Amino acid sequence: MEQYVIKGGNPLVGEVEIGGAKNAALGILAAAVMTDDVCLVENIPDVRDTAVMLQAIQSIGGTVDRIDRHTAKISGGNIVDQTIEDDYIKKIRASYYLLGALLGKYRKAKVALPGGCNIGLRPIDQHLKGFRALGAKVAVIPGGMIVAEAERLIGAHIYMDVVSVGATINIMLAAVMAEGQTIIENAAKEPHVVDVANFLNTMGANIKGAGTDVIRIKGVQRLHGTEYAIIPDQIEAGTFMFAAAVTKGDITVKNVIPKHLESISAKLQEIGCEIEESDDAVRVVASKQLSHTQVKTLPYPGFPTDMQPQITVALGLSKGTSIVTESIFENRFKYVDELTRMGANIRVEGGSTAIVDGVTQYNGANITAPDLRAGAALVIAGLAADGITTIDEIKYIQRGYEDFHLKLQSLGGLIELVDSEKDIQKFKLRVG
Ligand code: EPZ
Repeated sequence: MEQYVIKGGNPLVGEVEIGGAKNAALGILAAAVMTDDVCLVENIPDVRDTAVMLQAIQSIGGTVDRIDRHTAKISGGNIVDQTIEDDYIKKIRASYYLLGALLGKYRKAKVALPGGCNIGLRPIDQHLKGFRALGAKVAVIPGGMIVAEAERLIGAHIYMDVVSVGATINIMLAAVMAEGQTIIENAAKEPHVVDVANFLNTMGANIKGAGTDVIRIKGVQRLHGTEYAIIPDQIEAGTFMFAAAVTKGDITVKNVIPKHLESISAKLQEIGCEIEESDDAVRVVASKQLSHTQVKTLPYPGFPTDMQPQITVALGLSKGTSIVTESIFENRFKYVDELTRMGANIRVEGGSTAIVDGVTQYNGANITAPDLRAGAALVIAGLAADGITTIDEIKYIQRGYEDFHLKLQSLGGLIELVDSEKDIQKFKLRVG
């Protein structure tokens, strides 16, 4: 089984190129099958989740022509089936975007109930409420499949009870070719919601207001092919920015949109890091002792839940007591047990609040990644720790970070991808 082995202690220093946004890519790849023409999509991150989405598209007859590692031509012209099987949905939750896309295009879709990272209950009631409001009949049939069908989709006024990235994107997909106008109120404002809307607009859709909490969609009869480059990944960038803080390093994340990183930069400044911004790069200099703070995860433009484990790892090494409140998912502190084994002093209260008493040092340990972002945060903890850390279940990390260990190596991190005890021994001999 593949693992990362890490020797901590080196400050990470240098520049790192950030890839395309995974969570935008998943929506955009699903949207691309909504035309029979070809869509050329650039800046697709080469991670497990996008690979599974491309396989799911091929499984229903869609065409995927890989031009290079980050570019593909996609066409929904030959789609023969509107059923997405268990295999794909179990591997990636976001294959539910094919439900919205196929319903929007063919007026019918059948998709297995989603799984995904185990970070909370993660219901999809708001997605289904939106489809129903557009006139679809939606049923969950025995075996856990969702079937959505409509003779006609008719624009509607939909008020979302919770701010949901997935439901906002899915309803946009279902509504772009509906008759008349759809208004989504209390919509999610995340950069990837805007990116999916921009992509659809270049395909001929008429979506206005993405990035605000009211999105207005005027249905069009058909969508056409396009060429589009996905935005940079806010969370990959934020993860490297926190890697600088945790290892007392100096990292410039390149090819980013600094505006998308504002809540992350602000917290880093609050805990004592220096931030320098240019047009498409942000530099984090973290030579000093980190200071404590309070943080609560919120929908965009608030501090992202997908950065909660990374900031907790940093606060675990700060001076004083910090409070981290998770307000999006119920089950997102599972990694705290692992971090405690590395010497952190963190108490989780009521499932949603972590009280973090800073310690001066983490110690290397054999730990397991519980999910994608927590896994990445534990890698960063290992890079700051005294001694050797091994991390299991790195398949979670590979879902969302391209070449994670190679990028960390290029910044001076002593980290290796290994798949045997012999490799670990070799690494230990090499790093001394
Ligand atoms: C997306 O998940 C991301 N995934 C997650 O990223 C991210 O953590 C999350 O948004 C929040 O930003 C993708 O984009 C593929 P939500 P999603 O619907 O869409 C509740 C990562 O690490 N809710 O915005 O599933 C829900 O339970 C992943 O890259 C309902 O109650 O999240 C949660 O409490 C992990 N009913 C809140 O809303 C619904 O129908 C926000 O969830 C939908 C959601």
